[in-house]
Amino acid sequence: MTKHNGRLTKDGIRIHEDADFAGMHAAGKVAAQILDDIAPHVFPGQSTAEIDRIITDMVTASGTTSATIGYRGYQHASCISVNHVVCHGIPGPKTLKDGDILNIDVTVILDGWYGDTSRMYVAGNLSRKSERLIQVTHDALMLGIEAAKPGNTFGDIGNAIQTYVEANRMSVVRDFCGHGLGTVFHAPPNVLHYGRPGTGPVLEEGMFFTIEPMVNLGRPETKVLADDWTAVTRDKSLSAQFEHSIGIRADGAEIFTLSPAGKFHPTYG
Ligand code: MF3
Ligand code: CO
Ligand code: CO
Repeated sequence: MTKHNGRLTKDGIRIHEDADFAGMHAAGKVAAQILDDIAPHVFPGQSTAEIDRIITDMVTASGTTSATIGYRGYQHASCISVNHVVCHGIPGPKTLKDGDILNIDVTVILDGWYGDTSRMYVAGNLSRKSERLIQVTHDALMLGIEAAKPGNTFGDIGNAIQTYVEANRMSVVRDFCGHGLGTVFHAPPNVLHYGRPGTGPVLEEGMFFTIEPMVNLGRPETKVLADDWTAVTRDKSLSAQFEHSIGIRADGAEIFTLSPAGKFHPTYG
C-alpha cells in the first residue's frame, strides 16, 4: 500500500503533515553528512570515479539507499560536475587538476523520504574568478530560501535568485530547475531559478521542494552530451550549483540538508 500524506494543491503540490518534517530532516542530514565527509577526498589527481566509489560506500554505511542508482538508467551514487559541466556529470576515470571546481550532488532515501543536496568543492587552489562564481551561486540559493515562505510565490523565489545573479553579471541556467520531493524524488512544482515576482503557485506550509540554482560565468545556454546526462555550458564558461531540500513552515523555510559541520560553502569550516 502506498503511503499518501496530506493533500494536493490545485497545482498538484503535496501539502505534508507536521510529522513528515522529521522524516525529511533525517534523510537530509544523511545526505549532508556524506557531503561533509567527502571533502577530504577532493584533491588534484583524484578521479571522480573514486569520489563516487567512496560516496557509494558512505551511502551503504549510513543504512540509506541511493536515489540515483537505477534512476532512469543512471548508475552512480552521485553526480559530479566539473568546471563547465552544469549538472548531471557522470563520475569517471578523469582526474582533477589544481584549481578545478566541482559540484557533488547526492540523494539518499531513508524510511521512504528523499534527501537531495549538492555543493561546490575545489581541487587545490581556488582562483579569484571561481571563488566569485561560487560565492554568488551560494548567496543566490540562500536568497531564494529567504523568499520561500507562505504567501510568497515560486516566481518570487526565482526572481530573488535571478536578480542577484544578474546584478553580479553572471547568468542563471534556464534548462534545469528544482523540484518538489518527499516520498518521491521529483514531484511538482518545477522550481525555476528565474521569474517574475508574484507569478506561479503560492507557497503554503507543508510544501517540500529543492532549490538548486546553476549559475554560469558566461551565457545561460546548455547542451547535453552524447552520454544523455552530462549538461555543459554551450560557451564552455564555468558553472556552479548549490542545492538544499527545504520544507515550508508558517514563518519560512526549514532546511533539511544543513551541513552538520557547517561546511556547506567550500571556504567555510
Ligand atoms: N540530484 C539531482 C537533482 O538535484 C538529480 C540527479 S538524477 C541522476 O535533482 F540520475 F542524474 F542522478
Ligand atoms: Co534536486
Ligand atoms: Co540533487
